[in-house]
Amino acid sequence: MAVEIKGKRLVFTREQIADKVSTLAQQISQDYQGKNPILIGVLKGAFMFLADLTRHISIPFKIDFVRVASYGAKDYSTGEIKLTKDVELPIKGEHVLIVEDIVDIGYTLRFLLDHIAAKGPKSLKLCALINKLERRKVEIPIDYVGFTLDKGFLVGYGLDFNEMFRCLPEIYELIF
Ligand code: IMP
Ligand code: MG
Repeated sequence: MAVEIKGKRLVFTREQIADKVSTLAQQISQDYQGKNPILIGVLKGAFMFLADLTRHISIPFKIDFVRVASYGAKDYSTGEIKLTKDVELPIKGEHVLIVEDIVDIGYTLRFLLDHIAAKGPKSLKLCALINKLERRKVEIPIDYVGFTLDKGFLVGYGLDFNEMFRCLPEIYELIF
């Protein structure tokens, strides 16, 4: 069943995103001074955010990626999460920061936090560009948050709807 998109509304401009990304990068650079953290980007959605964030972080760090797939309807995830690509760097004893595009219901991050925690990192924190509150079912501790909003299906800056709109430089809400 095709979902009709009626339009899109600008929610965060390039400038707003750039300001937020540089503020987050400053906080991360301060907090992880001397710790050589590993930043783990969650594919695919976080690719643009991670790329911009890492260019503003002023301390040494490493980058790795995970990829998760969730099953169900197209605009929300079910509880069924599958890891389709794991990290490749050794995690045990390392300071780890997961970098995600958006936290919605919370299933994806709960799964990932448990998955990475099981590898025995020295510390584990989470950075999410967007914290979307209305549908949250699982409590997720987010250490670094870009924007908080209640609801709306967002696209652009890495976020997609059926793999469309990821490359937009701004963030929009889709109108269905
Ligand atoms: P959840 O927290 O388990 O619901 O899943 C979060 C994941 O669902 C994110 O990593 C996104 O891939 C996707 N997602 C949730 N809300 C949105 C949205 O507004 N736009 C695009 N993807 C979203
Ligand atoms: Mg995602």
